[in-house]
Parts: sequence; C-alpha cells; structure tokens
Amino acid sequence: MSKDVEMAATFLERGEVIAIPTETVYGLAANGLSLEAVKKIFLLKNRPFSDPLILHVGGMEAVEALGISLPLWARQLIHRFWPGPLTLLLPKSSLIPEIVTAGLPRVAVRAPNHPLTQALLQRLPFPLAAPSANPFGAISPTTAEHVYRYFAGKIPFILEGGECEAGIESTIIGEENGRLLIYRPGVVSKEEIEKVIGERVFTKSFSPKPEVPGQFPRHYAPRKPLLYGWQSPPLEPHASVVLFRPPSSLPSHRYVHFLSYEDNVEEAASRLYATLHNCEQEPTEFILVQTIPLDGIGEALNDRLRRAATPSLFTIGHSNHRWEDFMDLLRRYEIAAIIDIRKHPYSPKFPHFSQSFLQKDLYENGIMYEWQPNLSNLVQKIERISKGYERIALLCAEGEPNRCHRFRLSDELTQAGYTIFHILPEKRLQLHRAPISLGLEERI
Ligand code: TXA
Ligand code: MG
Repeated sequence: MSKDVEMAATFLERGEVIAIPTETVYGLAANGLSLEAVKKIFLLKNRPFSDPLILHVGGMEAVEALGISLPLWARQLIHRFWPGPLTLLLPKSSLIPEIVTAGLPRVAVRAPNHPLTQALLQRLPFPLAAPSANPFGAISPTTAEHVYRYFAGKIPFILEGGECEAGIESTIIGEENGRLLIYRPGVVSKEEIEKVIGERVFTKSFSPKPEVPGQFPRHYAPRKPLLYGWQSPPLEPHASVVLFRPPSSLPSHRYVHFLSYEDNVEEAASRLYATLHNCEQEPTEFILVQTIPLDGIGEALNDRLRRAATPSLFTIGHSNHRWEDFMDLLRRYEIAAIIDIRKHPYSPKFPHFSQSFLQKDLYENGIMYEWQPNLSNLVQKIERISKGYERIALLCAEGEPNRCHRFRLSDELTQAGYTIFHILPEKRLQLHRAPISLGLEERI
C-alpha cells in the first residue's frame, strides 16, 4: 500500500491487477487493452464475464485516441463533468477487447477525478479497465483498508489515496433511440445533467420486484441481512441501526450510526459504504437502515440501499396479545400488510382477531389484510402483494410465532430467497435461522 504512482504504473505495465483510488470508490484496475490482464479482474472479483467493465481514461483526448467518436451530448457532458463521477456509454471501437464490454456494442468510459489516479493515467499508454474493488455483490470500498480486507494477498499493490470523497459510484448515462437514459443513478444527479443538455433525461428504472426472489438483484450488500425503508427503525438489541440524521434525543443503543449531521444527502453518500462496512464488522445479526430523502444524490443512495436490502418476511402471532399490544407491534415494525395464514381465521376468546374485524380495523390503520389459508402458492401471493421491500407479516395462530406449526413452510420461504424475522410478543425481533421442526405436522 503506497502513494507511489511509478510503482503502480510498473505493476500495470506488467499486466498485473492493482487497486486505485477514485473520487467515487476504489477500483480494481488493469490494462484495459489486454485480454489477459482484464480476465484477471473478473477472476479476482468472482464476477460473471457477462457484466462489462468501465474503461478509465485521463480525459476526452484519450477517448478519441481509442477510436471512439463522441456525439454532441457526450462532448457537452464531458466538458461540464470531467474529470468527475460521470460514465458515458458510447459505441465501442475495434481497439477495445470484447471482454471489457462483455460482447455488448457499447463501451463505458469515464475520467476519474483523483490526483494520484489522474497522474497514473497520464503516465500510462493505455486506459484502465476497473470495476469497484469488492468481491461481486459485496459493499464497494471507500478506503484503502476496505480494499485490503477484501484482497490482501491476492493483489500485489494498492495505490493509497485516502478516503473517497463522493463515496458512491458514478452516474452511468447513454443514448437509446434518441433519448438520454440514466442506467445507474450516481453522484451526478439527473437535474444537473438536464441543465447541461437542456432536455429531459430519463432513468431506466430498477424494478424492486424480483421475478424470482432468489434472483433479487442484490448488490452492494453486506454479509448480514439488511432491511431498508424504515421511517424510524426500532433499536433492536441484535441490530446495527443506521439513521439518516441524529434524532432530537440521542439513542443509548450501542450500534447506532448517523449518515449526516448536517441534514445533507452528499454527506450521507460519503459515509454510506464506510458505515455499512462498520455494521458488517459489529457483533450484530442484522442491519436496519432509515429511509434517505430522495433529493439530488439521494436517488442514488436509495437505489444502492434497495439493492443491498434482503427480501424479508415477518411473522407475528396473536393468541397471547391484547389488541392494543398487537397494534403497537405492527406500528413498531412498520408492517404494511398482513397475510393471515391461520386455518381458522376467528377466535372465540379474542373476537378482535376474527377475519372480519381484522380486515376492517387494519384497513382503518392503513394496513392491508388478506386471509390465505392455502399455503401452496404463498410465495406467488407474497410477490403479488409486495411492491418489493415494504414489510409483510404472516399472522400465525400462536403468540410465539416461531412455535407456529404451520411455520414449517419457513423452509420453503427461505429456499425462495426470503429471510424471516419473528416478531416476539416482548417487542423484539428474532432472526429465523435453522428450519423449525416441531414434528407437529406428523402427529396431526
Ligand atoms: O464510480 C464508478 O463508476 C466506479 C469507479 C471505480 O470508477 N466503478 C464502478 O464499476 O462502479 P462497476 O464495475 O462496479 O460498475 C459498473 C457498472 C456495472 O453495473 C456494469 O454492468 C455497467 O457499469 N457497465 C459497464 N460497461 C457497460 C456497457 N458496455 N454496457 C452497459 N453497462 C455497462
Ligand atoms: Mg461495483
């Protein structure tokens, strides 16, 4: 790990892979014109060869030297934002190996704005292919130490450039049928781009609803479950809790993090990945993240957090609860919908837990309710109700949901890619781990 640009260049000229700093995140770089060198990046990251890489260049002249021609919109954006966190998708030239673009007709190029990496690019006779320096799917690194943790012993050199200033990835933009599309929201906001182009720019929207939950487009994800989209995340004893800003009275919870002290989305962006790296290291079981405001770079933060989020389901039991306690739990865990999986949706002792009451009272509290005693197509039913990442609870007959014998279907749900949390009556979440087998089904 060093700031020595000459040494970095020597490794790259030998066809090796090294880590480089940029203003967004650290990259894993190699000679972008060498098939052998680029191949090493994919293997190190465990990244599928179908996922193309960005070519990093010193500036516009280097793009033209690669035989790539620049339409007017590209020149305008380069003039305003380079060197900087904006990546352009442009028609590929024959100089660029197919492996870089994964066989696609366009190549992604950007000029990073970091003094060491700029000096390196000016010194080298080739562009650098560089994805973020993390194993495929994991949280991107914003310090040299993050890179070291991932790749110590696997790469020979890290160009040490301090903390990344912006903290999340570049914006990716390209043209399709005469319209400019943002393929990945990032540091440069849509509004800033529209100001330069003088036309509307569109976002190719990410669908939070996976076709198959197991293939949820999870990315940027820590190695423990992350639940995103809380108004006010509960301070669970086993959770790392990430708040956008400090609340008026400081919580006493040990593992609370704040993304911004100034109520500012740029500040939050610069801290997001470093905070998630810390959450990953803490002795907690899961991570709860408060919703981030959508303005400016906030759109990119939301995009990353949605992709980092784990598809999840909650369970809640009823038989030991008073109605008020039950409602308190639903509010505490911000439950948006209930799927009643009881065989008999009524309870002589607790009339409030009968289907007709539930339907009406939950509706009045803004919570959706559906009785689904037939468990055979539960996964499809959940997907139909779910818009992606709001919280859905399965209502079981037992007060302790993890004793609910119907919950043997949790195996099926886990296999379908969901992580299950039990809402315990004592106001605590329990992460469902091993398949529960009470043997009740056999006896019944
Ligand atoms: O800020 C950044 O862009 C960082 C730093 C290191 O520059 N790089 C980065 O690279 O985030 P990576 O590989 O983690 O993400 C690049 C994204 C991928 O989602 C990839 O699919 C897309 O860009 N991409 C790259 N080339 C493409 C192409 N030719 N066509 C379509 N998408 C492309
Ligand atoms: Mg990446």
